[in-house]
Amino acid sequence: MAKKLRVGIVGAGAIGTVHANAYKAVDEIETAAFCDVNETALQKAADTFGVSNCFTDFDQFLKSDVDVVNVSVGNVLHKKFAVAALRAGKHVFLEKPMAMNSAEAQEINNEAKKAGKVLQIGMVRRFSPQAQVIRECYKKGMLGEVYHTRAVLMRRRGIPGLGGWFTTMSQSGGGPMIDIGVHWFDAAMYLSDQWEPTAVSAKTYAKFGPRMKDYVYTDMWAGPPKYDGVFDVEDYSTGLVRFGEKATMSFEIAWACNAESPSFVELLGDKGGVRYDSGASLVVYTEHGGRVADIQLQYDNRENIFEGQARALLANCRGKKNEAATGQQGVTLMRLIDAIYASGKANQEVSIRK
Ligand SMILES: NC(=O)c1ccc[n+]([C@@H]2O[C@H](COP(=O)([O-])OP(=O)(O)OC[C@H]3O[C@@H](n4cnc5c(N)ncnc54)[C@H](O)[C@@H]3O)[C@@H](O)[C@H]2O)c1
Repeated sequence: MAKKLRVGIVGAGAIGTVHANAYKAVDEIETAAFCDVNETALQKAADTFGVSNCFTDFDQFLKSDVDVVNVSVGNVLHKKFAVAALRAGKHVFLEKPMAMNSAEAQEINNEAKKAGKVLQIGMVRRFSPQAQVIRECYKKGMLGEVYHTRAVLMRRRGIPGLGGWFTTMSQSGGGPMIDIGVHWFDAAMYLSDQWEPTAVSAKTYAKFGPRMKDYVYTDMWAGPPKYDGVFDVEDYSTGLVRFGEKATMSFEIAWACNAESPSFVELLGDKGGVRYDSGASLVVYTEHGGRVADIQLQYDNRENIFEGQARALLANCRGKKNEAATGQQGVTLMRLIDAIYASGKANQEVSIRK
């Protein structure tokens, strides 16, 4: 049996723990080390996962015998830790968003190429069984030419950690676009194979977050609110992305808004259309036998997306074919997000540099 892939996780917080659980479920991967500056979180992870190599200092952690460094700390530290790990000869799994902006993302990707190491970006939504079936439909030509995608992810009240790092531009790089929009942009672009955005016209708003004490909510991921903290990012954005002359993507991404909470990516193709929404039901809107027809596809919807992502990491590190997001795709996503912010600020369409 091949040696297990040894992963060291830096950031034993919410998502670091999710990754450790996923590695536990995959026979050929083991979590071999943890690093966190928070000693309580570190001890809890050590006890939960039975890991004895635990460090509060990242440089010491890097010296441990691991094949992969999983970077699961806040966005502001992504570049620093990913670059250091690549320079130390480790493969890197990097949580989304890849970095604070495209310049940082490009630096990381350059470093991975120089090191000849795997750089996998945590675009975990790709690993839902529904996404994989849609991808298969696209590849088999069932959708024909996909000319438009709609990326809609609207939370009615879903600001994470109000006043904390998520809502502080210097720590996060942005609001819902960089936090959750990045998943939906990736899903739209991955499912339709559109990786060359050329221009964007967008607008961002901040209508709920800045009035911190008036923010009414039912629950708060990464809470409770820190009213003495900062909210200087957007809480809603909308716009249109062009992919040359033949395809477009419209988007609406919100942490908070006074509306229902739809959440889907829709692909409009000239032969078929389909909606990805992480649910179980999957319908291709098409024509059959001279009639307008809805084809309901049956499939096994039980795969855990983080376990799917972990298996892709294993394949990636063993040089095998896999569906994971590459460093280059991560850079493209960050370029798109940079351009959305620039367009919102300039109040006009901006082009996206290559
Ligand atoms: N893929 C997803 O669906 C998903 C979901 C949530 C978060 N994320 C991403 O994961 C990352 C972490 O988010 P989270 O919600 O787990 O945050 P978190 O705050 O729960 O965890 C971050 C951990 O990093 C630790 N940390 C901070 N500075 C450190 C340092 N210098 N050295 C070592 N450890 C340090 C903190 O103590 C904390 O335990 C973010 O980039 C976020 O965007 C991805």
